[in-house]
Order: sequence, then structure tokens, then C-alpha cells
Amino acid sequence: MKQEKVLIMGAGGQIGVELTMALRALYGEANVIASDIREAHPLLAGKGPYVLLNAMDANATLELVKKEGITQIYLLAALLSATGEKDPKRAWDINMQSLLQVLDIAVQEKLTKVYWPSSIAVFGTTTPKQDTPQKTIVEPRTVYGISKYAGELWCQYYYQRWGLDVRSIRYPGLISWKSEPGGGTTDYAVEIYHEALKHSKYTSFLSADTYLPMMYMDDAIRGTIELMEAPAEKIKSRVAYNLSAMSFSPKEIAASIQQHIPSFEISYAPDFRQQIADGWPQSIDDSAARADWGWQHHFDLDKMTADMLHHLKG
Ligand code: SER
Repeated sequence: MKQEKVLIMGAGGQIGVELTMALRALYGEANVIASDIREAHPLLAGKGPYVLLNAMDANATLELVKKEGITQIYLLAALLSATGEKDPKRAWDINMQSLLQVLDIAVQEKLTKVYWPSSIAVFGTTTPKQDTPQKTIVEPRTVYGISKYAGELWCQYYYQRWGLDVRSIRYPGLISWKSEPGGGTTDYAVEIYHEALKHSKYTSFLSADTYLPMMYMDDAIRGTIELMEAPAEKIKSRVAYNLSAMSFSPKEIAASIQQHIPSFEISYAPDFRQQIADGWPQSIDDSAARADWGWQHHFDLDKMTADMLHHLKG
């Protein structure tokens, strides 16, 4: 079997840092090229091949793919939901142009696989909020969600038209301690742990009972790699897979933290992100991912809280 050579675009982001480390453990450090528009994240600096690359630069991307003999691309560069609403056209340009360029390069250079993340943001207020099915009403309200759903359809189109093996997951909010989130509506669920340890209090930008689907990064990384390693015949959906682990509210995550830090206090000051959250599902039905390629989550809220606090305490 040909040795895979992987390019990660957006390796400095919340998913990128940990995915780069996990893929290096799998394929060998030299076979995973990390790239980002920013200097290397401290966890990646000096630890393997790293290239400064703007995901909007098609020529530079193509040159790198040819020079390094890249066989797979993970395109993670994107503007997320909250940042996207501040500059919708820019979010659309970045999210769509980078994807279309990578899909073209992948067909042209006959790459074996492409990974591109989607999000629960594809769903909107007209979607069933509980146990949101894989196939349902999809009317996103944010530019981020619109770009993710359009992107899913482009991925499916490239699969149907060119046979390109593109795979994707609709991630819920992701919680991590190694890498920082960047501009999402679910970022509160990471900030709260840092603030609990530093100041024993946190003001949530979402209201007490705002339930959202969430997942610990360990599960998200393992799920992503399991999807990418699954035999092609098991991938029955060529739009992105729903993936679920837990659903909680700011009030519930605060209660989980209070089991470890009894003095912790939460208060609420909802801002523009409340409206974004109100348009998203509260919980996700991921039975298709479980049936097709064997997805299982390992972390629930309390197990995640224990692990987050343990690692952040250092
Ligand atoms: N975590 C993302 C966001 O809040 C959802 O994909 O934008």
C-alpha cells in the first residue's frame, strides 16, 4: 500500500493542533505536513514539518501538494459562527473558496482522500431541535451554517461527479484543553473551565438553559480518524455525518464544575451569540454514523469535566 502523505490546512486551530498530533502518531511525523496562515502553535513548533500557507492561495497549495507528494488533505481553515456574523462576506469567501480550491486540487492531483469539517450550524430554527436526524429540514441562519451546508453539497457533488473520496462530520461544540477555540458560539464551554480555575467564577454569554450538542476533543479526534480510516463502502452519506456525544446547558456544566470546585459561581449575560445558539439543535441523532462506521463516544459531561480540570490544573 502506498504511504499516505497528509497535508493539514488550518493546523493551528482548535481541531488542527490535536488532529496533527494524532495523525503524526498514526502516519509518522515526517508524513504529516502541518500548515496555517499563523506561526506554529506552541504544541506543534519544532515538532515536525510546518509550512506557512494561506488556505486562500490556490497556487501555493498546489505547489506544496506537488512538491511533497501529498495524498490526503484535511482542510480545517475556516471562520466560525460568531466571527462569521461580524463579516459575513469574508466568512463566505474564506470558507467556500478554500474548499473549492482544495476539491479541484484533489481531483487534479488524484488525492486518495479529503477531509472537511461541517457543523451543527447547518441546522436552523425550522429543524427539529431534539435528536435532530441526519436527514431533516436544513435552513441555516448564520453565514457559517450556510457555507457549511453549501460545502457539504459541493463535497457530495465532487464525489458523485469525479469520484473524489471526501468525508465530513457535523461537529457539535468541541471542548479541549490543549488548543484554544476560535470564534464559535460554543466557546463558552471551554472558557468556563479556565475561569473556574483562575477566578472561581464565570459570566456566560449564553443563558442558563441554553442546551447545545457538545463533544470532548478526544472523542472528536478519534471519530475523525475512524471515519477517515473506514473502508469506502461503509461511507453511505457523502454529505457530512451527524455526530453526537452529550447535550448540556451553562447551568449544567457549572453544576458539574461545582462538584470539583464548590465555590465556583456562574452568572449570565447573553450577547449576540444567544440568537445563534437559539437557532441550533439541542441534541443530535447520530445513529447513521453509529450504524455505518461504528462511531461511539466515550466522554459524558462529568467525565469530561474531571479530565479538563485535571489537565488545566497542570
Ligand atoms: N463550535 C462551532 C461554533 O460555535 C460550531 O461548529 O461556531
